[in-house]
Amino acid sequence: MNDWLADQRVRPLPDGVHEAQIGGVRCIVKVRRPGAGRALGYGLRYLRALALAVFCKLVLGEFPSPRVLLRNGLADETRRLRALRAQAWPVPQVYAAEPGLLVLEFVGQDLPHLLRRAPPAQCAELVFRAGADLARFHRAGHWHGGAQLRNMTLRDGRYWRIDFEENIGGALSLPLAQAYDLLQACLSLTGMNRLPEHLLPALGRQLLQGYLSEAGPEQTGPALRRVARSIAGTERVLRPLTARLSWRDVRGFRLTADLMRVLLKP
Ligand SMILES: Nc1ncnc2c1ncn2[C@@H]1O[C@H](COP(=O)(O)OP(=O)(O)O)[C@@H](O)[C@H]1O
Ligand SMILES: [Mg+2]
Repeated sequence: MNDWLADQRVRPLPDGVHEAQIGGVRCIVKVRRPGAGRALGYGLRYLRALALAVFCKLVLGEFPSPRVLLRNGLADETRRLRALRAQAWPVPQVYAAEPGLLVLEFVGQDLPHLLRRAPPAQCAELVFRAGADLARFHRAGHWHGGAQLRNMTLRDGRYWRIDFEENIGGALSLPLAQAYDLLQACLSLTGMNRLPEHLLPALGRQLLQGYLSEAGPEQTGPALRRVARSIAGTERVLRPLTARLSWRDVRGFRLTADLMRVLLKP
């Protein structure tokens, strides 16, 4: 590992997420170099965080501090990974962490990759289990921050969580951070491409049922209902505009709104 790190200082990998064999071990290397581009980009990143904060205020009813949202670098991810790992949660081991560089244990293929290759019955089981897994994580008092299905992998028969760069949960109250996780998971499934479209409504229900099968009262309380009401209401208001659009994200939003309505039934 030390030789590889020394080589990185001479011939650095470009920004992004890479797979690498280091000393015969399969690793994931995340590179976020602090360069001129990044410094210039601070204004833009602040605007993005501000837009997210406004979105949260409108949809979740809480305004997270854009400054806290911006604590979303590799150093923050490293800290969260180490803390979760110390509590034996299935997250990648941190092999090396340097400014702008994170070397992680490879923890399997991500869930969308698996869903695109699995027969429908297995897809249903995979997403049900993904929902249940998220609820167990939440019950233990955690939030993910990037709970899209692409940030879960399967290895050795269990799910692993990856990508802890987003700090939204650190800026929101815990129940809202968890509701936001569930919303992101639903949106990421219902907006998935390269999956037969007719399967998506049923898969969405499986994800939600899986979540509810393991969620406790703290997860299904007022925060989740507020999010559900807000998404369902927004979709209803926008329907005249979106009804004829077949864009993937719009379709996913409509399907997610239907899932949120399930949560509002008495
Ligand atoms: N530890 C890991 N093990 C296996 N695959 C990983 C790992 N980390 C990242 N990946 C793969 O790389 C993709 C992008 O990595 P991620 O950490 O989610 O960064 P980004 O911020 O770009 O989303 C993931 O969706 C997954 O396919
Ligand atoms: Mg990711």
